[in-house]
Amino acid sequence: MPEISFIKPALPKTGAILLPMTEGAALAGLAAALDEAAGGAVSRALEAAQFKGRKGQSVTIWAPVAGITKCVALGLGKAETLDADAAEQAGGPIWPALSAEASAMVAADVLDAALVARLASGAMLRSWRFDRYRTTMKAEDKPKLGKLAFAAGNAAAARAAFAPLKAVAEGVFITRELVAEPPNVLTPAEMAERCKPLEKLGVGVEILGPKEMKKLGFGALLGVAQGSVNEPRMVVMRWNGSGKKKSQPICFIGKGVTFDTGGISIKPAGGMEDMKWDMAGAGTVIGLMAALAGRRAKCDVVGLVGLVENMPGGNAQRPGDVVTTASGQTVEVINTDAEGRLVLADVIHYAITKHDPKWMVDLATLTGAIIIALGHEHAGLFANNDDLARNIEAAGRATGELCWRMPLGDSYDKQIKSDIADMKNVGGRPGGSITAAQFIQRFVQGRPWAHLDIAGTAWSAKDLPVSAKGATAYGVRLLDRLVADHEEG
Ligand code: BES
Ligand code: MN
Ligand code: ZN
Repeated sequence: MPEISFIKPALPKTGAILLPMTEGAALAGLAAALDEAAGGAVSRALEAAQFKGRKGQSVTIWAPVAGITKCVALGLGKAETLDADAAEQAGGPIWPALSAEASAMVAADVLDAALVARLASGAMLRSWRFDRYRTTMKAEDKPKLGKLAFAAGNAAAARAAFAPLKAVAEGVFITRELVAEPPNVLTPAEMAERCKPLEKLGVGVEILGPKEMKKLGFGALLGVAQGSVNEPRMVVMRWNGSGKKKSQPICFIGKGVTFDTGGISIKPAGGMEDMKWDMAGAGTVIGLMAALAGRRAKCDVVGLVGLVENMPGGNAQRPGDVVTTASGQTVEVINTDAEGRLVLADVIHYAITKHDPKWMVDLATLTGAIIIALGHEHAGLFANNDDLARNIEAAGRATGELCWRMPLGDSYDKQIKSDIADMKNVGGRPGGSITAAQFIQRFVQGRPWAHLDIAGTAWSAKDLPVSAKGATAYGVRLLDRLVADHEEG
């Protein structure tokens, strides 16, 4: 990841220069100075390439003046629609445009400081990559750029505006790394260990093992875990940023299945490796806690993650087993592959009884059915509270982490009636994501609650504006924004 700095406007003698330009804007400031130094080569090239500054449009002019390797004009779209959020998305492509350079500067001197900070945030978010397990990759195939400077009219203001954005990006990187790690490395115990560094940010971290969870009556979570030699964990992370002695926190709860084979209801082999990221809900909660603490959010938040591995084995849970959840409600396990809801049931019950949340959001790569319904463009949003749902939808639009509200209702709830227990863990193929949400709703005790099914958005097979292909950390920026807009007033 490059080190990002904000500097006073001055033309560099060497390296690459990127010109972020709104639609129809004339070359101004440093861009005009560069054009002049190049004897008009920049304006001639932009004219010849019919560069209009449309969003995502870009033109590269190689070596416009001696010492400068290239100049890239990057379109930001219409000035009227370039708000802070649009600038962040527009800033993403800055990184691939410059990453192969030894040094580079973004000439953002004519833009408002808040927009410059957001451009920088977009570029930083896009720069993340994971090379830990590559030992033979040649240096020239990796990004060279170690430092990226943004020239700003008011560099100090841009620097100050960037500080909280950087903290959020660092939270995003924690999530992406957890999601990208292979499942032999990232066991439940290892994932819990990786929460400990959050203590340095002021987050209280408490790790519970199988003994403690047994005492708490976590029959559903432990049932999922029992087929694996890798013990389960629950991690409770607490950030007290309100300064109040006594307050009702908000809770974020994440599904952390470090690998989902399906258990005895085993999944087909093709694509099963994707189930290493079945812990993305938990990874998102961990990165979110780091983001909130990193920017010293003025609110009280508890993040809880249930970490298990779902494996077949001599002691694995069977289809037909009945387990007793921490809430006392019993569940007939029809399909051991519907394990995420079992994990969430116990962790959510714990969140409510121990932390008395004002409202709560759970995140889970819960169902393949949500991908059939919404593809990879929106996460599924379920809620028992319209205000909370609206706020989440708005935060999603603002951050580009989109979600789409799905229905809940008694008639769907009937699909999970069991002949032997209080409920069964699957409701059949129709409305598979909805019946999964109905299952979770049975454990929220009527509290304001929302559920994000992120099975389609946690991982991307293609590059996105602020995320290279792979782990996206969907949800970190959305929920950070939700907190910023509604809990820190
Ligand atoms: N982790 C999966 C859901 C999933 C599927 C996430 C594809 C990401 C990509 C979940 O545990 C699961 O297996 N769900 C089953 C539920 C079914 C058995 C009712 C599914 O979606 O098939
Ligand atoms: Mn499963
Ligand atoms: Zn799963």
